[in-house]
Amino acid sequence: MKGKTILERLRILDCLQDTYRDTLKEDARRGLTAPRKFLPSKYFYDDRGSRLFREICRLPEYYLTRTELLLLRRSARSIMGGMQAGDIIELGSGENRKIRMLLDAVHASCLPSLRYVPIDVSAGTLLGAARELLHAYPGLRVCGVVADFTRDLARHLERISFEDRMLLTFFGSTLGNFTEEESLSLLQNVARILQKGDLFLLGVDRVKRRDVLESAYNDRRGITSAFNKNILHVLNRELHAHFPVESFDHLAFYNEEEERVEMHLRAVRRLSVAIEDLEEVVEIEEGETILTEICRKFSREKVERMCSATGLSVLRWHSDAREWFSLVELAPCSAEGSLMLP
Ligand code: AVJ
Repeated sequence: MKGKTILERLRILDCLQDTYRDTLKEDARRGLTAPRKFLPSKYFYDDRGSRLFREICRLPEYYLTRTELLLLRRSARSIMGGMQAGDIIELGSGENRKIRMLLDAVHASCLPSLRYVPIDVSAGTLLGAARELLHAYPGLRVCGVVADFTRDLARHLERISFEDRMLLTFFGSTLGNFTEEESLSLLQNVARILQKGDLFLLGVDRVKRRDVLESAYNDRRGITSAFNKNILHVLNRELHAHFPVESFDHLAFYNEEEERVEMHLRAVRRLSVAIEDLEEVVEIEEGETILTEICRKFSREKVERMCSATGLSVLRWHSDAREWFSLVELAPCSAEGSLMLP
């Protein structure tokens, strides 16, 4: 029998609809009128922001991606060992480098039994990545979901009928971009979706020396700075705002007490910024900052605590020798909290 064509192997579900701009409006209003200004970091990732982030992943100072790829290369076979068929779901997919490591570890004859389900807010990124994978892995099916996985994850996934086992991946320490409370609700949603025998693969950046962390977010070429400022370009374009981007400095430092890197944009002078679509003028003092991202760093205990609080149990840790980054294999707990091995 002839294999399926690329188009027959591709499906795209759009769960973003027109709510994205409304959500951006609400988020911008809430964040920019708060006593301490903030913006949700997901708005970094338009096409330009996604491209800048891909550049960050290749910077010498940004050890996160490199270390996670090393861990994947080392452990892909053992992780994929029990996965001959089923769905690989990836939250916040972006590039294909990590998923390719997993797919390379399965036998080519298994590819038609596997489906890859990337979930990302950027339709462009999703389509580009899907096309590349469909060419590289004959037989593999791809069902891309354009969605904000922090909202209604279960509802998006309900639109897909799941087949066999499920491997859910959440790479890059993106969990660190969420507050403790948000992280717990995200993990809880994940635990609810998983069934006995399913696997959750979570990448977390570990607590470490301040200088290592701070140089990862203050690269010498200024790519992280451009990435940070890109959020203002997004607001200028999407909400007809008038942020003078050159009047802001990139600021990133390790907040040791909170165990997180914070990224801010600091106004170099006093500013009145009109945001036409909000019918609002935002006043910013000289030296005042807008918090654009938190990147929480994790100890083993913190991960164990969060997971057991949300119905997940640790099966296995994969870490580099310096314990700078970890991949954690997790499984859903039964109601009694006992371990259900796949
Ligand atoms: C996308 C969450 C993995 O928190 O390190 C990189 C984003 N911000 N440099 C991170 C980011 C600044 C990144 N993650």
